[in-house]
Amino acid sequence: MDKLRIGIIGCGKQAEKHIYSLKKIPYVETVLSDIQPLAAKRLAEKTGSIWVDHPDEIYTDDSIRSVVICTPTPTHVSLIEKTIARGMDVFCEKPLCDTPEEAKRLQNLPSQSEQVILIGYVYRYVPIFEEGFRLFREQTIDGESLVMGKPVSAYFRLGGRGGHQVWKHMRGSGGGAINEMLVHMLDLANWYFGPFKDIEVISCSLRCPARMINGEMVEVNAEDFILVKCTGGNGLEIFCQADLISPAFVQYVEVQTEKGTFMGSIQSDMPSYIFLKEGSGGYSAGKTELRFGQRNVFDMQMLHFVYCILKRGLPDKNRVEDSLQLIEVIREIRNQADLKLISGKQGVITYDTYGRD
Ligand SMILES: NC(=O)c1ccc[n+]([C@@H]2O[C@H](COP(=O)([O-])OP(=O)(O)OC[C@H]3O[C@@H](n4cnc5c(N)ncnc54)[C@H](O)[C@@H]3O)[C@@H](O)[C@H]2O)c1
Repeated sequence: MDKLRIGIIGCGKQAEKHIYSLKKIPYVETVLSDIQPLAAKRLAEKTGSIWVDHPDEIYTDDSIRSVVICTPTPTHVSLIEKTIARGMDVFCEKPLCDTPEEAKRLQNLPSQSEQVILIGYVYRYVPIFEEGFRLFREQTIDGESLVMGKPVSAYFRLGGRGGHQVWKHMRGSGGGAINEMLVHMLDLANWYFGPFKDIEVISCSLRCPARMINGEMVEVNAEDFILVKCTGGNGLEIFCQADLISPAFVQYVEVQTEKGTFMGSIQSDMPSYIFLKEGSGGYSAGKTELRFGQRNVFDMQMLHFVYCILKRGLPDKNRVEDSLQLIEVIREIRNQADLKLISGKQGVITYDTYGRD
């Protein structure tokens, strides 16, 4: 079989994970590019890949029919448009885009139906969350889980220490806790319980306006803490919280239902279990630990992309439409978050005054 050559656009931290995952697939070859040629060269040497001087070379090389986009969010839409216009398949990192205007451009893409477009919501490949999807999407017509009954509350949490790049903390370059972190949890929550009816930002703040990034103290301006309440089908209250201020990475999903509890985490040292008052759907009464073994989710993600390319099949998840569903939700969150930050109504220090008084 001929090598499948995949172009990488953007050679930062995330690209490295995808390149290593692609290299585990025997007949795949990666060709690296970045607007900073040195970044492509450095990563090519580290991963044993081919590299080119400029991303345009990826688009003019007829032996490359697919690309993986790993650039900052504001560049995603124009790069996807360029890729689709060349008739190529594309995997693009999350979030798909920033604004409904950009989303409209994507809705109008000419030949979406024939080309693979996959968006990088990696939590959908985590086995415990795939199980959660099965549990909560296999419903009665009243929206009750067949196994767990009616969900009564849900919590989606993701926290980390923040980015290695200044752009990840600046509003103007698509950074902040909403784009970097919250979107992952919103996507999971939407997958389980969407579409959402109402959105309420409970708290949004910039708690660390001065950060040490790559050895330099920098002043940043994007939110680093956000707590949102979404109302899902059946009036379910869903709380999504994300931040860039948790020194140790933390992630979990907790859903309470009339019949029991679902707890899941990507972290092997966090609990993942189902508790049921009475046995149901193959689960016994009481607590059942859910252990699926170690699986590299980035490997699963790239395998899914390559599978879709080879099968010429549309992705069964992480489609553009899935991401587009969230664009209006994110816009509403942004509008409310900005108001909260300006007014400081939550008693949280605002962008304007934090660290300057
Ligand atoms: N799914 C996840 O778990 C996860 C984790 C981290 C980052 N991400 C996402 O991945 C994307 C990249 O993040 P990162 O951490 O790799 O950032 P990064 O800053 O480490 O790397 C981005 C690279 O893109 C290059 N670049 C910028 N504009 C470009 C353009 N127009 N053409 C070509 N190259 C360009 C930069 O020079 C840089 O080398 C972001 O969308 C981010 O949200 C996803």
